Amino acid sequence: MTTIALLPGDGIGVEILDGPVSFLRQLERDGAPVCVTGPWPYGTSGWLETGRTLPERTIAACREADVILSGAVGAHPGVSSTECPNPEAALIELRHLFDLRISVRTVRVPDADDVIIVRNITGGAYGSPDQRRESDGTNAAEDILVLEPVRVQEVFDIAVGYARARPGRRTISVDKASVFATSRLWRRTSQATRSSSGVDMDDVNVDRAAYELVRAEELPGVIVTEGLFGDILSDIVCARAGSPALCGSATINPDRPRGTGVTALFEPAHGSSPHRTGSRRSNPTGAWLALADLFAWCPDLAARGLHSQVRAALDQVIATAPPTYDLAERGCTNTSDLDQFNERVLELLATSALLTS
Ligand code: IPM
Ligand code: MN
Repeated sequence: MTTIALLPGDGIGVEILDGPVSFLRQLERDGAPVCVTGPWPYGTSGWLETGRTLPERTIAACREADVILSGAVGAHPGVSSTECPNPEAALIELRHLFDLRISVRTVRVPDADDVIIVRNITGGAYGSPDQRRESDGTNAAEDILVLEPVRVQEVFDIAVGYARARPGRRTISVDKASVFATSRLWRRTSQATRSSSGVDMDDVNVDRAAYELVRAEELPGVIVTEGLFGDILSDIVCARAGSPALCGSATINPDRPRGTGVTALFEPAHGSSPHRTGSRRSNPTGAWLALADLFAWCPDLAARGLHSQVRAALDQVIATAPPTYDLAERGCTNTSDLDQFNERVLELLATSALLTS
């Protein structure tokens, strides 16, 4: 049995999860080994409800669950950033609480293969709060960047798995070895991984990587890089794909520790888009990609082939249905809104034989 804690978060977070949640509810009714709990508040809406961006009962629910399905965390209509200045801290706190230390992003590039971005999401530029010092206007602000060799190697080991599954695609390791000691460790680890795994990998400086991701004809299959570089480069890959909505994001603890609460968080990588809240026009592709990754991560759900079913349904809808507004040509009026898009995905999933098995 897989217990999924639902944390829709802020802005469009609730509506963006509608389709995936309907599918999960259907699986529950059909007797699949899934149990959905929540919705549990966090982010700005958590603060609105309880005064805290990561309320105690949400943490408790995550301790009881195996994985989190999240919508978006950030600004929320009706709440100013002076009232609730840093809702994203809730996401960062969750990563540290459950040691969700590696991020794997999947960008679905139209008419091309996916691009996978693997990075550390704790440590490095994403160090803990005790590695930061705020400035009072006179003293220096400080962010200490520390990377342990064993943690870097772990990121590479995971990236190697993705690279092996994509023969013929390029894998790049991105750093800034001319400046940072942590990047020189990164590059040595890349070289060691290349010899030990036999997987071909190019070392690319981060500035050059940004240029190539915008300009090169063919995108790499796998990018392995430090947390902050990956944060920025994954947005560039989304721009190249055509929309921030085309990215599913998994934040995982590769040890999968049993009985200690959630082992992974899945979310679309776009923000909370407060100005679009309630419009029901947003493109839910990232949420479906996140759900597919969730299915692949959970052993009893992976065994049912749910990951490939979701990806196949999604691909078919993208190929045949009118585009969502973000991917439509200028002036095109025949578009799908969120509910029309989801309806089509759900219809295809309902006809899938495995759903009832
Ligand atoms: C992302 C976001 C987060 C990150 C923020 C909200 C902490 O930018 O998911 O890409 O930097 O990881
Ligand atoms: Mn980001």
